[in-house]
Amino acid sequence: MVKFEQIKGFVFDLDGVIADTSVYHAKAWRQLAEKLGVTWTDELADGLKGISRMDSLDLILKTGGIENKYTEAEKEAFAAEKNTNYLNLLKDMDATAILPGIADFLKDLEEHDYQLSLASASKNSPLVLEQLGLAMYFKNKIDPTTLKHGKPDPEIFARGAEVLNLKPEECVGIEDAKAGVQSINGAGELSVGIGDKNILSEADINFADTSELTLENIKKALD
Ligand code: G6P
Ligand code: MG
Repeated sequence: MVKFEQIKGFVFDLDGVIADTSVYHAKAWRQLAEKLGVTWTDELADGLKGISRMDSLDLILKTGGIENKYTEAEKEAFAAEKNTNYLNLLKDMDATAILPGIADFLKDLEEHDYQLSLASASKNSPLVLEQLGLAMYFKNKIDPTTLKHGKPDPEIFARGAEVLNLKPEECVGIEDAKAGVQSINGAGELSVGIGDKNILSEADINFADTSELTLENIKKALD
């Protein structure tokens, strides 16, 4: 495995790692799913984490056995409706939505001259970072509209290292989604999974929540 001294950069997921926004995504999708008669389950909620807007809609329709019921135009309209729901939920969001320990962790990384990039599938990530007051940390963002493949494909995390001019093995990827951990592993980076260890069993390092995410704990896990 990677040595701690080898690490030069950190590639972050956003929703569910930096901020509590995965809850808002889930709420907005649930509104739409139930309107379409698709039963909401924890399993569906977990499967939606990390994947793109259209992939999410496809998974919801497939779960309900209605994947062939709607035209592309109707599907576009559903995706737009979900995004409107999501943006409504985001309206009053501020720095209080930053997950525990993340503000200190980012500051610590900057002070220790690590490089940072963002590997979020969300087209709303620039807005979210602005509202959280964290945009200054992420000058290196991957534009998800330029990707050929979504998570779990390695493309987004590979690009996260590339934009920093680093080798994958010099980077740590941080994720709360199974598809995201798979993307990090495929890119050849060290994967840190935040959340349920059973779901994120493929991660190199597991932390139960963001408050455990510190340089010291990563070093400890690698020693
Ligand atoms: C992230 C979230 C997903 C979300 C996706 C697309 O990966 O984890 O829940 O569906 O981004 O977000 P967007 O804001 O573009 O709809
Ligand atoms: Mg996430």
